[in-house]
Amino acid sequence: MDKFVVRGGARLAGEVAVSGSKNASLPMYAAAILATEGALTLRNLPRLVDVFTMLELLAHLGVEVSWPDDHAATMNAAGSIKDTAPYEIVRKMRASVNVLGPLLARLGRARVSLPGGCAIGTRPVDLHLKGLEALGAEVSVEHGYIVAEAKQLIGARMNLRGPNGPSRGATANVLMAAVLAKGTTVIEGAALEPETVDLCNLLNAMGARIEGGGTSTLTIEGVASLHGVDYSVMSDSIEAGTLMVAAGITHSRFTLTNCPLGMMKPIVAKLDEAGVYCTDKGDGRVLVDGTGGLYPVELTTAPWPGYPTDMQAQMMAMSTLAPGISVFTETIYPDRFMHVPELVRLGATIHRTGNSAVVHGMSQLSGAHVMATDLRASAALVLAGLAAADETHVHRVYHLDRGYEGLE
Ligand code: UD1
Repeated sequence: MDKFVVRGGARLAGEVAVSGSKNASLPMYAAAILATEGALTLRNLPRLVDVFTMLELLAHLGVEVSWPDDHAATMNAAGSIKDTAPYEIVRKMRASVNVLGPLLARLGRARVSLPGGCAIGTRPVDLHLKGLEALGAEVSVEHGYIVAEAKQLIGARMNLRGPNGPSRGATANVLMAAVLAKGTTVIEGAALEPETVDLCNLLNAMGARIEGGGTSTLTIEGVASLHGVDYSVMSDSIEAGTLMVAAGITHSRFTLTNCPLGMMKPIVAKLDEAGVYCTDKGDGRVLVDGTGGLYPVELTTAPWPGYPTDMQAQMMAMSTLAPGISVFTETIYPDRFMHVPELVRLGATIHRTGNSAVVHGMSQLSGAHVMATDLRASAALVLAGLAAADETHVHRVYHLDRGYEGLE
């Protein structure tokens, strides 16, 4: 099985382009199902295993998929479309559940395998189903499949806020059903992330009528049909943030291009506290300077505009080298600490209690064999390896190919 061998101690330099956003693009492929006139072309796409899985699912459903270039995909859903997303594909990636709303809106019926849990904890879909039911769908779970039916979805008012805050996935799914519902839908407690705003912008470009993107209330006037467009997806704030941490952990200075700095306020603010400074050079160019000293941080993950859970592991890796005590609290996925025992194998001192971890920063990590458990934990181990003495062997790096295009 593939592994990375990281020889620590090198300084990083030069210029690297940030990829298109994985999380912004994943629901957008599902939006292709809604376009009955003309094809949808998405650009600035990352070439990732998750993206190929999503396109495999679309092809299975009957959507014609082609790649005009390495970072663009054209999807034509004008022909007939199947209503079932099978277990064999959905089990590979939970974002496949994004096809539920679009299939239901277009066909009046959808069967989508229930996504399982994953390494970062149980990840329910109750809010997705609640929203579709509010639009008048009959939803049941049969033989491991979500079955949703509605001859005509009807606009409704609903609250999609869950116990841990708004859900990005549920907001996307319900939004992509409501765009074709009859009448007005109001989603309260909607996700606020820039990735959700990007989805609203795409759907509006396809002919939808959505107002309130970036606020917690989305108002959707249903329309009869949507059409294809040519759309460039935002860049990946988590990939950019991971590279910024790489600058800090290796005491390096380099330039990112295609960087979505304006959509990274919570990430950049914590990096600044930690001693990594980002300077906007205009036109997507950002100078990242980690050559000063590192400082400890206190960080609590929360829905946007709070600190993203997808950056917690990487920041923890860096804090192991910041003299002093750092504290990490996870409110989105309370068990998302699989990287802790692996960082400890590299010599870090970290104590976890409940949904918090306390890091006692020290001056040196030493290379070891470590095991990647999920996407962002894997990135954290590669980052730690960059700073550790001698060689770090990061096993199971296939997780990285789900979210980073050629990280090495
Ligand atoms: C998205 C991101 C993922 C990120 C996560 C949290 C994508 C493809 N993935 O995942 O990288 O880690 O946001 O920022 O964009 N919840 C419920 N019921 C539901 C749905 C969610 O209780 O029906 C809970 C979840 O367990 C979690 C919280 O709500 O605690 C937020 O989850 P959600 O925003 O839905 O995450 P995803 O969209 O799956």
